[in-house]
Amino acid sequence: MGSFLRILGIETSCDETAAAIVTREENGRGEIIADVVLSQLEEHSAYGGVVPEIAARAHVEALDTLIEEALARAGIGLREVDAIAATSGPGLIGGLLVGLMTGKALARVAGKPLYAVNHLEGHALTARLTDGIAFPYLMLLVSGGHTQLILVRGVGHYERWGSTIDDALGEAFDKTAKLLGLPYPGGPAVEKAALNGNARRFDFPRPLVGETRLDFSFSGLKTAVRQAAQEIAPVSDGDIADICASFQRAVARTLDDRVGRGLARFKSEFPNLADMPALVVAGGVAANQELRRTLQALCDKYGFRFVAPPLQLCTDNAAMIAWAGLERMAAGFDPDTLDIQPRSRWPLDATAEALIGYGKRGAKA
Ligand code: KG4
Ligand code: ZN
Repeated sequence: MGSFLRILGIETSCDETAAAIVTREENGRGEIIADVVLSQLEEHSAYGGVVPEIAARAHVEALDTLIEEALARAGIGLREVDAIAATSGPGLIGGLLVGLMTGKALARVAGKPLYAVNHLEGHALTARLTDGIAFPYLMLLVSGGHTQLILVRGVGHYERWGSTIDDALGEAFDKTAKLLGLPYPGGPAVEKAALNGNARRFDFPRPLVGETRLDFSFSGLKTAVRQAAQEIAPVSDGDIADICASFQRAVARTLDDRVGRGLARFKSEFPNLADMPALVVAGGVAANQELRRTLQALCDKYGFRFVAPPLQLCTDNAAMIAWAGLERMAAGFDPDTLDIQPRSRWPLDATAEALIGYGKRGAKA
């Protein structure tokens, strides 16, 4: 092995407290040495969503132990890392403050450079850690707080091709579950219920389908689900299954249209790539099997490689933050100064206009 870089990553932007040690060889190969994640799901489940104040306190309580644990698992001390990377946005400001301040303090004490990482950049670059894919590629981020189609040109070079104009897709799953009385988080519950349902019973809307812009909209779908449930109330388990299956079908059709257009646009912008182009998914909604099948079929149709990193790296984690820090180091970006402040809003593509409702929850990415 030639020379390599080793970094400590810290993630606290939403409801996962996480620390990781990741290395990168000169040839670009990355390796996760330690990856520790503590989910706050239980703290928030009673409220049906993430409570910012509870999240921030839970990060404070857990973060130092998690960092020690990551270092211990890697069998190294803080002085043996080359740098520290901490998420500094977008996300819940209380949590971001905890992680970034901790990162600053450790960087100061150990005399190491600090990289303040955009959480979305972490998601965007994960596929290079897991699958070593080359630039450019297309990324679909579908989580509780974001729904975006992003062209990844290179480290630090992102173009947002599409974004939700209202609810994030995970949020649509969560709200649908809530109004049907299913548990939080809603995605897995809706997917499970849908397995026994008739997807053709309800013809739910597929917002923006057919439009050339690549944006998404899911709030109308949620409203249609509410109306359907009210019309047939009281709903039986069979009704719930049918609603969930019909909802998921509408989502799959919507993604098929929107992402299909994105793949076609990618092909026309990059007609002569040496390798097969790639579509990468990230975010918790990427766990959904029906949506995965839809995306896989799209990739087959358009000649793309479908890259879905293992689920624990699709959802929030610190390995992706560490890796984004390493990619920035390797690409020659300067470290950040210790007066850097966290940003609750921080679009990856600074040139993209804010869409109505974009990031309004500002919580999860
Ligand atoms: O990426 P993630 O773990 O957290 C952030 O949002 O940062 O994503 C959580 C979201 C939730 O909205 C959850 O309902 C959704 O991902 N989700 C799913 C599934 N598993 C999780 N949505 C659809 N189908 C699933 N199987
Ligand atoms: Zn995220």
